[in-house]
Amino acid sequence: MGYDQAWLRYGKDKPKEKLSLEIKCKKSPILENAIEELKKDVRIFPENAAFTLKVDSELPKEGYRLQVVKESFFVYGGSDVGILYGVFALIRAARTGKLHVSEAFEETKIPACPLRMLNHWDNMDGSIERGYAGNSLFFKDEKVHDHKRLKAYARLCASVGINGTVLNNVNVRGEATYLIDLKHLLKVKSIADLFADYGIKIFLSVNFAAPMTNGGLETADPLDPKVRKWWRKKAELIYKTIPNFGGFLVKADSEGRPGPFSYGRTHADGANMLAEAVAPFGGVIIWRCFVYNCQQDWRDQTVDRARAGYDNFMPLDGQFSDNVILQIKNGPMDFQVREPVSPLFGGLTKTNQMLEVQAAQEYTGQQKDCCYLVPIWKQVLEFKTCAKETDDKVKDIITGKTFGQTIGGMCAVANTGTDENWCGHDLAQANWYGFGRISFDPELTPEEIAEDFVKEAYGKCGKKAMAALTTILLQSTTTYEKYTAPLGIGWMVNPNHHYGVNVEGYEYDRWGTYHRASHSAIGVERNSSGTGYSTQYLGANKAMYEKVETTPEELLLFFHRVPYSHRLRDGRTVLQYIYDTHFEGVEEVEQMIALLESVQEKIEPERYTRLRERFSMQLLNAVEWRDRVNTYFHRITEIPDEKGRKIFD
Ligand code: GCU
Repeated sequence: MGYDQAWLRYGKDKPKEKLSLEIKCKKSPILENAIEELKKDVRIFPENAAFTLKVDSELPKEGYRLQVVKESFFVYGGSDVGILYGVFALIRAARTGKLHVSEAFEETKIPACPLRMLNHWDNMDGSIERGYAGNSLFFKDEKVHDHKRLKAYARLCASVGINGTVLNNVNVRGEATYLIDLKHLLKVKSIADLFADYGIKIFLSVNFAAPMTNGGLETADPLDPKVRKWWRKKAELIYKTIPNFGGFLVKADSEGRPGPFSYGRTHADGANMLAEAVAPFGGVIIWRCFVYNCQQDWRDQTVDRARAGYDNFMPLDGQFSDNVILQIKNGPMDFQVREPVSPLFGGLTKTNQMLEVQAAQEYTGQQKDCCYLVPIWKQVLEFKTCAKETDDKVKDIITGKTFGQTIGGMCAVANTGTDENWCGHDLAQANWYGFGRISFDPELTPEEIAEDFVKEAYGKCGKKAMAALTTILLQSTTTYEKYTAPLGIGWMVNPNHHYGVNVEGYEYDRWGTYHRASHSAIGVERNSSGTGYSTQYLGANKAMYEKVETTPEELLLFFHRVPYSHRLRDGRTVLQYIYDTHFEGVEEVEQMIALLESVQEKIEPERYTRLRERFSMQLLNAVEWRDRVNTYFHRITEIPDEKGRKIFD
């Protein structure tokens, strides 16, 4: 095949020709794809299984209902897409052992998030910004490239309910600026058509200055009539070429990207101007809230990057058009292994919102180290914002339950590429899979998702191997946090590429990312007597983060500056906690390796070899983190480890 089947590891090379199938809806390419799956997978259903596929207009378009009675399998969908999702869910239920043919089975699911998207940070030269799994599946040599794997990609996405994908990097540079021009659009259309047959809409990131770069105008001022007209014409062209085009994703006035600020305009002016252009075609504008001052002076302690998203966007709540969605990173900084939830969730009440997470493991091991991210995402989704008494969790806000918005949802910066196993690390596939599953159904637990992933991807390896891999995945999140940055501090990474430890790597830089460790204290005071960041939260959260005593310990150093001698709830000092967790992190990686080795003979050699190699890299990385972090703090505090373990001087 040339590439890994990831979790859709089923079917014979030659699909079964005869299938007892009754179709009670209009034929369509999407339906054909659903049928193709059933034909592939008949082995897990009884020989004389009879399938019925039917549209049920009472269900929402993407919803499905499964009903199994004896050997009859009914899949109802709100549309052909719902049926496709239903078929994938039926196969999953059979493969994960939830469906027993002898027992009746029913399941109804309606996706919680309207949009469940991947954001690819792919460049047109084929490279991927923060890509850790090879090259782009969409671009090569400055051209759109319909890679032979695109159908497999779409199928994997659809199998977990992903319904949107942004093909190109939010940093739109070079040739990518011209992706919205006719010279590339026809090729983009061929991808859009292929993906449409799996219920996936495509979106493009655009350069806010495109009227100048592509259109030769002298300005990109969103209030200039010529600029507005230029975008309207551009939208007409795009939708004429690709009628089911989703819309634009925009990174503006951030990290050097152009935006409305240059013209004294607001983010709302910029977003609404684009929204007006795509509105006649049902398009949406996804506008990112990742906006901050990236030219900070580290000496200046009055500026706090964590405040920036809220400070920039809160005053604009209610000013965005109905087809604008604000895309908000899960935390106020940038995808660190531990951050508080962005206070924009709960703060914004009159604006469509989308939660942005990062499946690409930029700061969480770069798909060399194993780090299962679903537990982190789940914590964000379950965070009570205090915007209301009930139904105020982040998951309620992005699904529209709290404030009634009808568009919004969740997106993940993608972790895929041309590597044989798609994701660099075989277990990083669980993050792609898990993103789809949890955005479809935020009620699922990380444990359920990990178990399902392992059953689907490693079902043939037997119970013991599956148990080992599930344990490894579930362990990996806390292990990674332990050997990297403690107590919510973040950023102790190598500048620029962000893999590996560098305790002061970002300390004197311009990015606003400081831990300010001295010989006696560490952390940033972000309460009302510090930078005031904690006051951006509502009600009980504001009160909780105000004081050291009530701040959750895992975020202690994010919100407060404390002496190393500060005692945590279990009686340990902060310094001892740092030492302990860094020793434990390495020990846990060693345990994961031992567990993996114990099931070596059960896993196909190719996959085992890839996994084993990654864990060797992880161990080297963890040891380096442990020794550098512990040595650093030992040197500046001169306080030894209470347990007398080896720390270098
Ligand atoms: C991070 C990342 C960048 C990216 C940016 C973004 O800072 O390192 O590569 O462009 O996030 O989300 O826009």
